[in-house]
Amino acid sequence: MKKKNFQLEYTLVSSRKQLSAPDQELLKQALVAASKAYAPYSNFLVGAAARLKTGQILSGSNQENASYPVGVCAERVLLGSIGAQFPEIPIETMAITYRTKKKKSDSPVSPCGMCRQALLEFENRVGHPIRLLLAGEKGDVLIIDSSRILLPLAFESSHLK
Ligand code: THU
Repeated sequence: MKKKNFQLEYTLVSSRKQLSAPDQELLKQALVAASKAYAPYSNFLVGAAARLKTGQILSGSNQENASYPVGVCAERVLLGSIGAQFPEIPIETMAITYRTKKKKSDSPVSPCGMCRQALLEFENRVGHPIRLLLAGEKGDVLIIDSSRILLPLAFESSHLK
């Protein structure tokens, strides 16, 4: 018998000025996307913006539904769109942010379990890690080098063989 463990490594950035200009821009685009979210039930508006290997930026936002489980998270809206339009182009970085009606969001949120699974599938599909930038409208930014690290012991296509 042997105890094993996982290590989750991330970078904490306390001032956005420390981010590169392209990363600052990506976070801004994610916030613009959050403003376009359709979230009348939760009032939790999530925006995601991805910079592809080609430099192109695409974005998505959560799309809710009166039948609650039909709603889709911002990350999966975006991944679906990229997968359909640019099936072979790697995502270099995805920025994820959110806003609420209550107050200016000031701490990062990380993708839900279903989105982690979808992010991992996309990484495997194109053979390239997706770097994540997680942030509120202000405050700390978390940088994760590969979404894979968010899903230890993941179920992957290799298990179906
Ligand atoms: N949501 C996202 O869009 N991304 C996440 O990673 C977490 C949650 C959405 C789903 C729902 O529309 C709202 O946020 C509240 O859960």
